Amino acid sequence: MIAPSILSADFARLAEEAAAVAGSDWLHVDVMDAHFVPNLTLGLPVVQSLLKATDIPLDCHLMIDNPGRWAPPYAEAGAHNVTFHAEATDDPIAVARDIRAAGAKAGLSVKPGTPIEPYLEILKEFDTLLVMSVEPGFGGQSFMAEVLSKARAVRKLVDSGELTLLVEIDGGINTDTVEAAAEAGVDCFVAGSAVYGASDPAEAVRALRAQAASASPHLTLAH
Ligand code: DX5
Ligand code: ZN
Repeated sequence: MIAPSILSADFARLAEEAAAVAGSDWLHVDVMDAHFVPNLTLGLPVVQSLLKATDIPLDCHLMIDNPGRWAPPYAEAGAHNVTFHAEATDDPIAVARDIRAAGAKAGLSVKPGTPIEPYLEILKEFDTLLVMSVEPGFGGQSFMAEVLSKARAVRKLVDSGELTLLVEIDGGINTDTVEAAAEAGVDCFVAGSAVYGASDPAEAVRALRAQAASASPHLTLAH
C-alpha cells in the first residue's frame, strides 16, 4: 500500500492535490502542533474539509502532545486511521481504545530512537504500527535504514499469527529506499516528496507500489 503525504503538497490546493494521487490506498495527513515536533501544519478543521473533498481514506499521523485529548475527534470526524506517538502519552492503550470506539483504526508511531520492545505487548490494541524512518517534523529528509529492524521484529509476530496489524513506514521513502523497506516486511509506505515532487504524482505512486510489491517477501510467497 502507498500513502502519499500531503505535507509535500500545495496546502492552498489540497482537494486538487488529493485528486492528483487518485488510486492511492491512503492519503497521509501530518498533523503537527509545534510542541511535540518543532513544526506546525494543520488540524481538525482542515481534516474535516479534506474528508469532504476526497474518497481516499485518510491516514492521520498525529505528531502532537496530549493525544488522549486530541486524537478521538479525528476518528469521530471520519478519518480511516488515527495514529499517535508512543512518546506523547503514558496511556497508549486508553488512547487506542478511544480511537477504535470512535470508529477509526488505531495506529501507534515510534520515533527512530524509540525501541519497539516495550510496546510489543500492547500492539494487539492497534491496527497499524507506524515506524518513523526520519525524525518527525519535516518532509524531504534522508531515510534511516537502522529502523528496519523494528519492522522486521513486528513482521515476524504478524507472520507467526501472534499479531494482526499493518506495518507502515514514514520518512525518506523513494525509489532508492522502498525496496529495503519492503524486504523488511513493511505493508504500507508513506511518501511525501517522492510523490508530490514528481512531475506525475499518480505515476510516482504506481511506480513505488510496483517496486515495493516486487521486493516484498510476503507477496512473493503468495504468488
Ligand atoms: C515527517 C512526516 C512525513 C513526511 C514524509 O514528520 O511524518 O509523513 O511527510 O516526507 P518524505 O516522504 O518527503 O520523507
Ligand atoms: Zn507522517
